[in-house]
Amino acid sequence: MMAETETGGLKRTLGAGDLIMLAIGAVIGARIFGAIGTAAAGQLGPKGEVIRLGAGPALVLSFILSAAVCALAGLCYAELAAMIPQAGSAYAYSYATLGEIVAWIIGWDLILEYAVGNVAVAISWGDYFNTLLRGFGVSLPDWLAMGYRRALLSHDPQVHGLLDKAPHVLGIPILINLPAFGIVMLITWLLLRGARESANANNVFVIIKLAVLALFVAVGATHLNAQYYHPFAPNGFSGIHQGAAILFFAYIGFDAISTAAEETKNPQRNLPIGILGGLAICTLIYIIVGAVLTGMVPYTKLGDAADPLSYALQFAGFKTVGWIVALGAAVSMSAVLLVFQYGQPRIFFAMARDGLLPQWAAKIHPRTHIPWATTLATGLFVAFWALIGDDAETYDLTNIGTLFAFVLVSIGVLVLRYKEPERPRPFRVPFVWPVSILSAAACLFLMRGLPDTAWIRFAVWLVVGLVLYFAYGFKNSKLRTKS
Ligand code: ALA
Repeated sequence: MMAETETGGLKRTLGAGDLIMLAIGAVIGARIFGAIGTAAAGQLGPKGEVIRLGAGPALVLSFILSAAVCALAGLCYAELAAMIPQAGSAYAYSYATLGEIVAWIIGWDLILEYAVGNVAVAISWGDYFNTLLRGFGVSLPDWLAMGYRRALLSHDPQVHGLLDKAPHVLGIPILINLPAFGIVMLITWLLLRGARESANANNVFVIIKLAVLALFVAVGATHLNAQYYHPFAPNGFSGIHQGAAILFFAYIGFDAISTAAEETKNPQRNLPIGILGGLAICTLIYIIVGAVLTGMVPYTKLGDAADPLSYALQFAGFKTVGWIVALGAAVSMSAVLLVFQYGQPRIFFAMARDGLLPQWAAKIHPRTHIPWATTLATGLFVAFWALIGDDAETYDLTNIGTLFAFVLVSIGVLVLRYKEPERPRPFRVPFVWPVSILSAAACLFLMRGLPDTAWIRFAVWLVVGLVLYFAYGFKNSKLRTKS
């Protein structure tokens, strides 16, 4: 997707190593830097009710569980991506294979993965930005550094109390996350200028990410306290399961490389190596970082830290290193924001091209050759949501939506094997029946680990999507208007 050319003639230039670098570039971001603490400590609602149980130091097992689910889904993605290598990712595969309405549902779902996911990343970016500012002795007033919904949903009386303390306009408390809004607008502006991710820029970001995480591990490992690893799994398997469901976000992005299928040399071999190799490397990194983090700070203290890695370093007395890690985190998250902010407009573009969205969404700028209307619309949507949003609720929505898309992709592989057995498949899922069914079941199992509020919001999201489909896409789709 990232290397797609406007000419449509794509060159097979990427090897397995490039794909692994792309995967690391898109994957390592907000979750590991921003919200890993919630998975360890759990989460309470505004009235002190338990929203999710924490995994405690068994966080490392949550990482492994989530990675196993992703590996199964990754195999399914690899088969479809190698068969139907087009912009639009899972939307394009399902449009070509499972029919329009399923494609619409996946496309609508991918908004949760890309745009809503970026809301969460932007909010985490804002938290690290504030840590950086504090390093210079500057603090933004609370009402400019936090969105309304985070204060509303917080169980911390001080944070919740901001609803009263913030300036009011017409009785409405003004609580906005200015840094999160600013970074999204900046990235949108860059993209509108025609900026594009190149493999080289990505490599630089990947090196910065890995260097910063290595620094964290090297410094943190000198400060481990064996006591903090007890109890290892304070909430047993439930905590590990719920931790895995929330940590799933950390792996999102590996599927984005499946869209580079058309530019991959020898996709039969390199795509599975890229997808599974990228996943394996990220899993290893996450396990090491998780093990060090929970050995540096009692896991119960991690829940409220929006910037847990810097917080842990500062807790252990390494202020300067904490600041350097915050800087690296902000850079890493900017890269993730860029990749997803780049991807979403292209999915909208593919949907508009098929007539499922209005035609203005399929407009290409004559000079920059980018889908400018959807780039701008995505930027505004993400920026305004990030301005007032809560990261925890957006993470959950992204996870449930992406997992659901994975379920449909897993089933899609089977349907297609049945419907079109002869179609050439550069990559085939091994033991397709058990693997695809297990993949769909594993994704559903992980979805079950998400709180009820996430299911309710997701159901509302799907209903809104279906209403829009029948109000617009059903009547205007190219498939229907042609026949
Ligand atoms: N996996 C990416 C992140 O954690 C989306 O930011």
